[in-house]
Amino acid sequence: MEIFKTSSDMRAWSDAMHRRGETISFVPTMGYLHEGHLSLMEQGINLCSSLVVSIFVNPTQFGANEDLDGYPTNIKRDIQLIESKGARVLFLPDRKEMYPENYQTYINLEHLPKHLCGLSRPVHFRGVATIVAKLFNIIKPDAAIFGAKDFQQLQVIRQLNRDLNFNINIIGAPIVREHDGLAMSSRNSYLKPEERESALSLSKSCIKAKEMVQSGEKDANAIKGEIKSFIESFPHTKIDYISICKPETLNEVAEIKGEVLFALAVQVGKARLIDNILI
Ligand code: PAF
Repeated sequence: MEIFKTSSDMRAWSDAMHRRGETISFVPTMGYLHEGHLSLMEQGINLCSSLVVSIFVNPTQFGANEDLDGYPTNIKRDIQLIESKGARVLFLPDRKEMYPENYQTYINLEHLPKHLCGLSRPVHFRGVATIVAKLFNIIKPDAAIFGAKDFQQLQVIRQLNRDLNFNINIIGAPIVREHDGLAMSSRNSYLKPEERESALSLSKSCIKAKEMVQSGEKDANAIKGEIKSFIESFPHTKIDYISICKPETLNEVAEIKGEVLFALAVQVGKARLIDNILI
């Protein structure tokens, strides 16, 4: 596996691959890999002739009081894992490479960031859209794979892909869960043993919401109220949001008709966790 640290080396490799008629699948990550990331790589390897993975902890998607400085890393282990999945290239730029002095350009979406996580993380999706667009321009993938745990991010990237004519095949991969249902996340490493049970309140809420809809409940507020009390019955939890919305627009719904997204974000100790389910 080759490791490129500069955009020019990465781009030269991608251009050479395309000239040879090869196709490139791409999995962007912020490192500290878990089974969820590996499942994205497994999908990627089967989609195109070469898989490229990137690791870059993108500072512009973290707010001032968020966990950028403490974000977990383990580059040595990550490199071994990426290599074991058969990737041809790891793109591993540093901050100066991606945001050199006098960097000025950011991408803002008009509507999707005004919901769910965007309400309490106002700069997050601007940072995500900007870095993903930059990575797409450097790596020029034919397909890119993103996890459905970050459902809003996936929708933002689909929109960005359409609006800016990247013409990349964007694949949403199912959420990978621990044996007890907890959605895999690099931030799970922040959980103290006594907070672990409380972290399960998110996946349990997804199941509970689905069961309520299946048993005929159509009132979104009634479901949200029930889930709120359920989560508050767990110690160490602080609800950021509980949402029932249209999957395409992320607009809240009052009455459940057709497919809806149930999504929530809960602070459990130091970890801000998210989960969702399509119902
Ligand atoms: O999902 C992530 O890990 C990040 O938001 C991404 C897509 C790599 C952009 O920094």
